[in-house]
Amino acid sequence: MEKETAPRREVIRFSDKEALSRDAANRFATLASQRSQRKEPFTVALAGGSTPATLYRLLTLAPLRERIPWLDVQLFFGDERCVPLDSPDSNFHMVNETLLQAVASPIGGIHFMPGNLPNHEAAAREYEETLRAFFRLAPGELPRFDLILLGMGPDGHCASLFPHKPALHEKERLVVASEPGLKPFVPRLTLTFPVINNAANILFLVAGEDKAETLARVLEGAPDSEALPSQSVVPTNGMLTWLVDQAAARHLKTL
Ligand code: 6PG
Repeated sequence: MEKETAPRREVIRFSDKEALSRDAANRFATLASQRSQRKEPFTVALAGGSTPATLYRLLTLAPLRERIPWLDVQLFFGDERCVPLDSPDSNFHMVNETLLQAVASPIGGIHFMPGNLPNHEAAAREYEETLRAFFRLAPGELPRFDLILLGMGPDGHCASLFPHKPALHEKERLVVASEPGLKPFVPRLTLTFPVINNAANILFLVAGEDKAETLARVLEGAPDSEALPSQSVVPTNGMLTWLVDQAAARHLKTL
């Protein structure tokens, strides 16, 4: 395992997705335990897509299953596809299959994004209200997640913040409906960058050869956040950690 560390950002390379997921699962459990010891809820926004499925399954298995204070865990979503919640394209469906159905303990809170609602703008505003109520936000205040999990698409997107789309420039809203930029080409709901960058810990999970060229551009290339939205993930007062596997890190010079 090799790492490169800059102020508030580190990139750690693993041999494969399994090793990367084990590290992420340990980080999840450690952060959850730390919050629980302080009698605070552990607020985490889950990533969708396929990469985090391995991580979610690991959280439901010994020894991590016993380490995590599930009653103190508040699960949120970083983004969602606007499809029925039981659709194979739904991030909730993936999390339900890999985590919720398998963890044998009651979870403190599960706050799914209502991608199933036909009016996507109303769905985004509903989730904003969910965040405002849970985090007890004053007008204009941002929620501060303990952890936000993110994946990176081969196009450099994260959450459902796709290249050259209006949602990239949203500075006020917490959640917006966004246009798709990659399959499945369905409308999306997504946290905005102000929310993402206000997190205490942001963890990118990036695995696979198909991400290698984009990952090198995002991490080592010229700034171009319009084309590479993941470059806009810069925590204002938190830690950004990239967990990458060997295949995705193939073109990195600094690792
Ligand atoms: C989504 C995800 C998305 C995902 C990336 C990477 O709803 O699609 O939230 O941002 O993290 O597309 O997806 P993979 O992990 O499947 O490569």
